[in-house]
Formats: sequence, C-alpha cells, structure tokens
Amino acid sequence: MRALHLCSIFLGLVDRAVVNGAPQQLLYRTNEHADLDPYPGRPRLTFRPDGTFKITVFSDLHYGENPWDEWGPEQDRNSTRLVKAVLNDEKPDYVVLNGDLITGENTFRENSTTLIDEIVAPLNQAGIPFSSSHGNHDNQANITHAEEILREQKVAPLLSYTRTAPAGVGGPGGPGNYWVPIYRRKNDRAPVLILWFFDSRGGFSAGPNSTRLPDWVDASVGGWIRSETRAMNAAWGSAEKRGALAFVHIPPHVATDLQNNFDSAENPGLNADSLDGGGSVQATTDPANSGKDNTFWDAVNEHIQNLHAVISGHDHGDEWCARDRSKDVIFCFGKHSGYGGYTGDGWGYGVRNLLFTSADPEVGVETWIRMEDGETHARITLNKDYS
Ligand SMILES: *[C@@H]1O[C@H](CO)[C@@H](O)[C@H](O)[C@H]1NC(C)=O
Ligand SMILES: *[C@@H]1O[C@H](CO)[C@@H](O)[C@H](O)[C@H]1NC(C)=O
Ligand SMILES: *[C@@H]1O[C@H](CO)[C@@H](O)[C@H](O)[C@H]1NC(C)=O
Ligand SMILES: *[C@@H]1O[C@H](CO)[C@@H](O)[C@H](O)[C@H]1NC(C)=O
Repeated sequence: MRALHLCSIFLGLVDRAVVNGAPQQLLYRTNEHADLDPYPGRPRLTFRPDGTFKITVFSDLHYGENPWDEWGPEQDRNSTRLVKAVLNDEKPDYVVLNGDLITGENTFRENSTTLIDEIVAPLNQAGIPFSSSHGNHDNQANITHAEEILREQKVAPLLSYTRTAPAGVGGPGGPGNYWVPIYRRKNDRAPVLILWFFDSRGGFSAGPNSTRLPDWVDASVGGWIRSETRAMNAAWGSAEKRGALAFVHIPPHVATDLQNNFDSAENPGLNADSLDGGGSVQATTDPANSGKDNTFWDAVNEHIQNLHAVISGHDHGDEWCARDRSKDVIFCFGKHSGYGGYTGDGWGYGVRNLLFTSADPEVGVETWIRMEDGETHARITLNKDYS
C-alpha cells in the first residue's frame, strides 16, 4: 500500500522532470491499475446512506492567547464551549479547522503544540473525522505548521486526516497541501468528492532568528495539483463524476476585487473587514514572489474539475461568498469561530456549514452561517445559477 502512495509522489516528480529514468514507466503503469488511496488501512469517509454529506468549518480558533492573563484561558474555554455546542447540534460528517488554530505569538517553545490537544478534544469526544489547514498565526518563533500537523496526527490518530505534501512541495513553512477522498459507499472504487487543502503560509519561521515567511501558496503547489489530478484521472477515470471543494486559510488575491464589486443582495453575510490593506489576502503580487503569476490560483482553476467553492478564513469580519467571474469559481469566507483573535462590534462567533444533498457534482451545495446561539443566516446554494 505504501508503494501506491509513493506513486503519486513519483508522478509529481516525473511531472517536473526530476526523476532519473527507469522506474517512471513502471510507476505510471502501476498507478493506472491502482486504487489511489492516500489513507491505506484507514476507514473510508463516505456520504450517508440517504445521499447527504455535511461539513462544518471552524475558522480562526486562535487558542493560546496570553496564558498569563485571566482572559486568555477564558477565551479558550469559550471557544471550546462553542465547538461542543455546534458539534452537538449540527452533527457534521466532517469538520474542517480552516487555519489560525493557535495564536503562536503567545506560546512557549516547550509546550506550544499541547494547545492542539485542547482543540481536538471535542472532536475526539464526538468521534467526528476532521482535518486542518494552517494560518499565519500557526507559523511563529515557537510553533510551525509542521509541528501542529504532527501533534494533531499523534493526539487524533483515528480521526485526523491532515497530511503533508511530498518534500519539495509547498515552500518554506507550507507543508500542509493534501487532499481527502470522500466516497458514496464504502466499497466504491472511486470517490465522488475530493476535499483539497492548501497551505498559504505567512507568519514567521521558527527559532530565535525568526524571519517573515511568504504569505501565499507556493508556486510548487501548482505543479503538484496538476500531477495529483492526473494521477486521479489515471486511477479513477475522468473527473466528470467527481466534485471538489477547496480550503485555504488566507484568501486568494482575487477576493479584494470581489469585495470592491460587491452586491450585498447576491453576496449575503457580514462584510465588515476591508481586504484592501496589506496582509488581508495572499500577496501573490509581492515582488518577492518570483513568478508574480498566481501559479496556485491558475492551477486550482485549470486542473480541479467541478469545484463547488474555495473557502478561506483569516479576515474575521467577512463571511460572504462571491463568484470570481474571470475563473468562474465561487469564493467563500468561513466564519470567525474562536473567541481569540481580533473581532468587531456585533461580529459574533460561528461556523460555516456545507450540506451536500447528493453525491452528483451537478447538484449544488447548500451553505450558510450558523452562530453560536443557533441563529442562521446568509444561506445560499453553490451552483451554476449562483451570482
Ligand atoms: C466568554 O463568554 C461569555 C459568555 O458569552 C462572555 O460574557 C465573556 O465575555 C467571554 N469571555 C471572553 C474572554 O471572551
Ligand atoms: C518562546 O518560548 C520561549 C521559551 O519558553 C520563551 O522564552 C519566549 O518568550 C517565547 N516567545 C517567543 C516569541 O520567542
Ligand atoms: C505552557 O507553559 C507556560 C509557562 O509555564 C504556561 O503559562 C502555559 O499555560 C502552558 N501552556 C500550555 C498550553 O500548556
Ligand atoms: C541568530 O543570530 C545571531 C546574530 O546574527 C547569531 O549569533 C546566532 O548564531 C543565530 N542563532 C541561530 C540559532 O541561528
């Protein structure tokens, strides 16, 4: 089974013409006959017998602020209360923690990742499978995305589906690029839905001489998306019957344009956080980004078929969806879920829910914001007719 996993890694290498000869033909052939499974030995994630699948997205939990003050730990107790209440009411089939799980600036080298234990405890208790993307606050002098991922895998070995990309993909500080297959039924050969997770990095490198990290998905992820989608097509056949949904903590750069051409009737939900300032969206236009060509966003839209939406956190005062007409893809914010992190008057705390009512990728996905107290709003259907 391990060899199958390596296949997709090698395909990636072949794609970028780094592999030196002999094994590649064999690997391509093996892969065509293999059931591509990045989680050998783990239970397959499936739609319910009634054909539905519900995802709850917690964004920006920001655990671990000022542990030396009263209010820091109180925030975290409040966030845990919210997580438990939401899980109990919503009973999702899958949970996404969409970045900034921890405010790393306030953590200590020796125990920073133990906050992950606190965050995943309610998920372990409820027995709900989940995975994470990571944010700029999860990369700081005393903590890294890689460390958080390892800890999560250790403390939630049965339920965490978070992985890392092969070495060389993701760039400095950005290992968290992976996908999770969802099947209609346990014994189906091919999945009907792929959940994609991308690492938008940001924050600072670890250690005493911590320096700023790029705050965008590395261009190497573009080539990896291409090779992974090719491997999927080779193993499972064409992508027509597969839906997709993508998660990345920092919004793609285009979110600023979407906000500047906003229509609050078509794009319901809080729109209180301006995306014009530096750091609000992926700085894919940063001169330090040698390509300056938005390789990640182009690859997402070129290679991922039937993409229902791309969902980000990061900007706590935004919770809307809007269509990027240039790529014909819907972008959505989640909802600030943690009591930690900055907030504003009346913003409140909640989650984004996504309900698949069918495994057919032609059928739209219901989505809405649910607040801690159970109030819901900004309900839309992600389909061809939206916006
Ligand atoms: C925790 O939640 C309570 C109840 O909503 C609220 O009154 C309090 O201000 C919150 N504490 C912090 C530190 O956010
Ligand atoms: C990191 O952890 C060390 C050791 O606990 C601590 O002295 C330091 O203040 C922490 N924070 C930063 C930003 O280095
Ligand atoms: C980590 O250690 C610091 C200093 O001893 C303590 O204040 C803090 O509560 C600890 N944090 C965790 C998450 O255990
Ligand atoms: C950090 O920078 C200082 C000053 O340049 C240097 O002396 C030290 O060796 C560096 N420490 C590490 C761990 O790189």
